[in-house]
Amino acid sequence: MKAQAIRIHETGGPEVLRVEEVDVPRPGKGEVRLEQTAIGVNFTDTYNRTGLYKQPLPIVLGHEAAGIVEAVGEDVQGLKKGDRVAYAGGPIGAYASARLYPAERLVPLPDWIDDQTAASLMLKGMTAEYLLRRTFPVQKGDWIVVHAAAGATGGIMCQWGKFLGAHVIGTVGSGHKIPIAEANGAEKVVVTDEPNWPAKVRDFTDGAGVCVVYDGVGKDTFDGSLECLMTRGLMVSFGNASGPVPPVAISKLNDRGSLFLTRPKLWDYVAARKDLMETAAALFDVVHREAVKATVAKTFSLAEAADAHRAIESRAITGSIILLP
Ligand SMILES: NC(=O)c1ccc[n+]([C@@H]2O[C@H](COP(=O)([O-])OP(=O)(O)OC[C@H]3O[C@@H](n4cnc5c(N)ncnc54)[C@H](OP(=O)(O)O)[C@@H]3O)[C@@H](O)[C@H]2O)c1
Repeated sequence: MKAQAIRIHETGGPEVLRVEEVDVPRPGKGEVRLEQTAIGVNFTDTYNRTGLYKQPLPIVLGHEAAGIVEAVGEDVQGLKKGDRVAYAGGPIGAYASARLYPAERLVPLPDWIDDQTAASLMLKGMTAEYLLRRTFPVQKGDWIVVHAAAGATGGIMCQWGKFLGAHVIGTVGSGHKIPIAEANGAEKVVVTDEPNWPAKVRDFTDGAGVCVVYDGVGKDTFDGSLECLMTRGLMVSFGNASGPVPPVAISKLNDRGSLFLTRPKLWDYVAARKDLMETAAALFDVVHREAVKATVAKTFSLAEAADAHRAIESRAITGSIILLP
């Protein structure tokens, strides 16, 4: 069958995203063919577009979508034509109206969750799950920092962190986003374009510092994040929205109080099917309880993917962006 897809042939700005017609063949062994109904846009997609995260070219972008099983290949168990499913993570290629996908990486969708909500939540929500429950198991009463607390992943993390009983200190890049971070569940909010923001974080903890910082902003906040941590605290650097963190002298971890540092990615926490299904189940549970709500901030047609990239890079969007085929 034919599909519309957003493909890049070279790295660069949003203008390298091309709308193309592609062939989607019959599914092979272990694969299904999906008709996609909603596609999640993630900051990570911009790293693939610019070449910060290298991919073989040409390539269809995207890591997250919801849709319907249209055809099933040989040896596929537990899925049939018409089933509603979603996915987050590789293989890359979500920016398409239809595609092939490995059956074992798909998550069946419960009836109560609609496709747009699923596409807005799978990658960001499963990331929140592994960061808050497994990279550093947040306990009731912990003081934690969540960067970009008015953004898509950060917004989900604030809600989930609050649900776990943590005192969430959210950061935002500018003052007008403070109410959004608060609405997401941040108990305190600091503005990272103001001087001495790490000192403000420490003040909230009576000088002790927080036990963990979740930093998806990268270059601009890395050093400040280390200053926020208590002795033996954990720095979780999980993204580069402001640019990649330059090489770090490990003596900094010693100087700041025997700190720990990790640079995790979702794939390593959901590579096993059991982990994928448990992570998705935990996410669906908090959404069903209404402890975590997805905010679809803006929708674009699939053909407008370049505009969606401009929007996410502008810092003006507070919530998830969805592409509709
Ligand atoms: N490692 C993983 O497993 C994993 C998985 C998912 C996402 N991530 C990472 O999580 C981060 C958030 O992803 P997202 O898709 O949810 O995006 P997002 O948070 O909705 O958007 C990025 C946010 O970063 C902040 N930011 C700071 N400096 C920026 C700059 N120079 N340009 C643009 N934004 C800047 C902005 O908030 P302010 O204006 O408030 O600063 C912006 O809202 C990204 O770094 C992404 O790569 C990592």
